[in-house]
This record gives sequence, structure tokens and C-alpha cells, in this order.
Amino acid sequence: MIVVGASTVRNEGYGPPRPNREHAAAREAAGQRPVPVIAVVSRSLAVDFTSPLFTEAIVPTIVITCEQARPEGLEAAAKYGDVILAGRDRVDFALALDALAERGLTRQLTEGGPHVLAQIAASGRLDELCLTIGPLLTAGPADRILAGPTLTPPQPMHPISLLEEDGSLFARYVRPERDRTTQSTT
Ligand SMILES: NC(=O)c1ccc[n+]([C@@H]2O[C@H](COP(=O)([O-])OP(=O)(O)OC[C@H]3O[C@@H](n4cnc5c(N)ncnc54)[C@H](OP(=O)(O)O)[C@@H]3O)[C@@H](O)[C@H]2O)c1
Repeated sequence: MIVVGASTVRNEGYGPPRPNREHAAAREAAGQRPVPVIAVVSRSLAVDFTSPLFTEAIVPTIVITCEQARPEGLEAAAKYGDVILAGRDRVDFALALDALAERGLTRQLTEGGPHVLAQIAASGRLDELCLTIGPLLTAGPADRILAGPTLTPPQPMHPISLLEEDGSLFARYVRPERDRTTQSTT
């Protein structure tokens, strides 16, 4: 399943995942749904619930929000999605990820963006990080891959694989305490 912040959904025009014939047998053998579930994190609920992400999803899209969200937003979200209330004024990511796990969604991949990723890391739930480094020089101000309050203390990560294709580097890191178990499965 994929957890994604509402800004990323808005900026990238997120649609629902489509089944992939190449992966269908492997997903079925692993007891997975034909496509991953998407969970959108939002407080404002300024999300287009009539978009294909909600209306054409093969498995219902989840909305993760908080108790103080606008009642009319909550009503719209509940009409098209499966709503999780995790926290009072804002989403508490530890509560949210636990609620997903209670629905059987224990393998949680986050797409970010940086604000969501930072909070997942701060909640102590970021076990792995997949980081792509593209062969392109750019300039100008930019957020870090974790945006928001400083992560204190910084979280050490251990690199376990580095792949290259067409000049892009695909790095995978795990938390040091998970290193031994993860290496045995890669
Ligand atoms: N390079 C990459 O691989 C990559 C990956 C992902 C995203 N991106 C880019 O990153 C940008 C967006 O990233 P971002 O960091 O600005 O935004 P984001 O993390 O995608 O989403 C932030 C939004 O999520 C909701 N949210 C976050 N924390 C919350 C909390 N604790 N409680 C309730 N709601 C919460 C809020 O939505 P509401 O405003 O609706 O309340 C907030 O505005 C986009 O331009 C996207 O294209 C790049």
C-alpha cells in the first residue's frame, strides 16, 4: 500500500493504480490485492473526491485525516473513500500507520512528499529508504527529502544496495537495527 500527502496528489494529478499483468501472478501468490491501496493524508480535505483516484479505484482509496477536519470535507471523503481519523488537530502518523496495519495493510510504502516523509521518520516508523539520484545538475532553493521540523537526533541509515541504470543511481537504505534481517532477504 502507498501513503501519499495531499500536496503530492494535487500537484501530480494522482490517479488510481492499474493492474499490471506482469505482476498479477506474483501479487496473487503473495496474497496481495490486484493493485496497491492508496492512502491520501490531508487535514484540509481539499482533495477532488470525484476524481478517478476515488471513483475508478479498484480497491477503495483511503483518506487519512484528523478529528478537527471540516465536517463537509469529512462527509465528501466518506462518500468516496474509506476514512481514517488519526489524531485531533493533525494526523498523528504513528496512529495512522497502526490503523492501516489493523486493516491488514502492514507493508506501507510512502511516496512522500517531503513533509509526509519527515513526519513518518519523526514517528520512528521509517524502516527503509529508496533514494534515486539522477544525473542532472540543477540550482536554486530546494527542500530536503525530509521537510519540516529538524529530525532530532538525526537517524542513521545503512546502505544495503546501489543499482545503476542509464546514469541514475537507485540506493536502498535500512535502519541499522534492521540490517541483518533485511540483507538475508535481498
Ligand atoms: N521527487 C520525488 O520523488 C517526489 C516524491 C513525492 C512528492 N514530490 C513532490 O513534492 C511536492 C509535495 O511535497 P510536500 O512535502 O510539499 O507535500 P506532501 O508531503 O505531499 O503533502 C503535504 C500535505 O499533506 C497533508 N498533511 C501532511 N502532514 C499532515 C498532518 N500531520 N496532518 C494532516 N495533514 C497532513 C496536508 O494536506 P492538506 O493541505 O490537504 O491539509 C499537507 O499540505 C510535490 O511537488 C510533489 O510533486 C516529489
